[in-house]
Amino acid sequence: MSSTPKPDLYDPPGRILVHGAAYQDLDRWHAAAERLRRAETLPRVEEPGWWPFWAITRHAEVAEIERQNALFPNTETSVLLPEAALAQQKKSGVQIKSLVHMDDPEHAQYRKLTNEWFKPSNLRKLFEVRVGELAKRYVDRMAAFGGECDFARDVALYYPLHVIMSILGVPEEDEPRMLRLTQQLFGNEDPEFAGADRNAALLAAALDFKQYFDRMTDDRRAHPRDDIATVLATARIDGAPMPEIERLGYYMIVATAGHDTTSATLASGVEALMNAPDQLRALQQDPSLLDNAVEEMIRWATPVRHFLRQATEDYTLRGARIRAGDWLMLVYLSANRDDAVFTDPYRFDVRRKNANEHIAFGTGVHFCLGAHLARLELKAFVGELLSRLESIEPNGSPEHVVANFVGGLKRLPVRYRLRAEA
Ligand code: HEM
Repeated sequence: MSSTPKPDLYDPPGRILVHGAAYQDLDRWHAAAERLRRAETLPRVEEPGWWPFWAITRHAEVAEIERQNALFPNTETSVLLPEAALAQQKKSGVQIKSLVHMDDPEHAQYRKLTNEWFKPSNLRKLFEVRVGELAKRYVDRMAAFGGECDFARDVALYYPLHVIMSILGVPEEDEPRMLRLTQQLFGNEDPEFAGADRNAALLAAALDFKQYFDRMTDDRRAHPRDDIATVLATARIDGAPMPEIERLGYYMIVATAGHDTTSATLASGVEALMNAPDQLRALQQDPSLLDNAVEEMIRWATPVRHFLRQATEDYTLRGARIRAGDWLMLVYLSANRDDAVFTDPYRFDVRRKNANEHIAFGTGVHFCLGAHLARLELKAFVGELLSRLESIEPNGSPEHVVANFVGGLKRLPVRYRLRAEA
């Protein structure tokens, strides 16, 4: 009986950037990414069913492209999707337009609306205590599992979700719905979240978000509160209320970008500490390393795998002639293992001198709006966990979500001992 051999996801190496399943084996993924970084000429990826693009895999190259946003704008298509999904989205008339789909001057106008909210001083004033309380609550929850849990699914998933939803103003009982919608949107290649038809799941998620946030807008206009939903419901652009599509996109990006990313970093960071007990001990003995350890966790996890840019002019990079109109993929996970910047890049090192040179939050005008919030959350949780953790070890095989955009661990079975609260 003959069967068609499965195509190799890792060879030619550019295929790792297209197929979400390639992220399920990160060792092989990184080996292929290294080949792309070492290639003499800028690699171009041409995979049937997907737009061709240039793979921007070195740290310095990602920064070079991102800092020239006028030459390389985000455009309305800032994430790689199969051509069929793009066509179906167009046909459906459902349009998602958020900060990552905007360019200046429009982007600057919209970014200004929430920039102050996410500044460290405002976050410290309004949320540091609350985030600390939530971190404690979720470490307590871990303790309540009695020594065994799936850290990714039972703990890491819910803590950042709860933080961002309380900032946005979504009540706790609606959090499971927000979680499901985010997973459909981001993990949309993973059959566990999308069902059989990923395109249909994507559209259904967008429509459900719309219904939910339209109701929320009406409510906040009638009854303003101290939350981001009120800022968005009442914001004005050029003296008029924010247009409907842009308003929906804004709610969606805050609701979705705010938790999956941080959850994935937390799970991956705990896995890295568990696999390197010397690092875990160093951090427990010297909590002043925490800030740096969190930067290293973010470098290590790099949950946002890519964004796209489109060239507006011809440009030369690593010996290749990029043409106006060509697509470029910024490959953050590869850039964060670039040995031109990070010595021994595949080693997780809480004392790494330049851990904060990672580019996991991007750079330039689209630099992650929630970077300070993410750091605050991660420090609060890891600090609380390590102050009570006596031991932790693997209790089964970890599993990664199938996604080429936002990814990370979806299962991390662990066995542990936690001290009762101090
Ligand atoms: C460890 C966690 C996180 C990582 C690694 C991450 C990563 C990123 C990256 C790579 C970008 C694109 C940057 C660029 O194009 O240069 C981005 C944009 C963005 N992130 Fe995050 N993010 C995280 C957490 C958050 C959180 C907690 C929020 C909460 C609101 C958030 C909201 C946003 C928004 C709104 C944008 C779009 C900014 C713009 O286009 O102006 N992110 N993030």
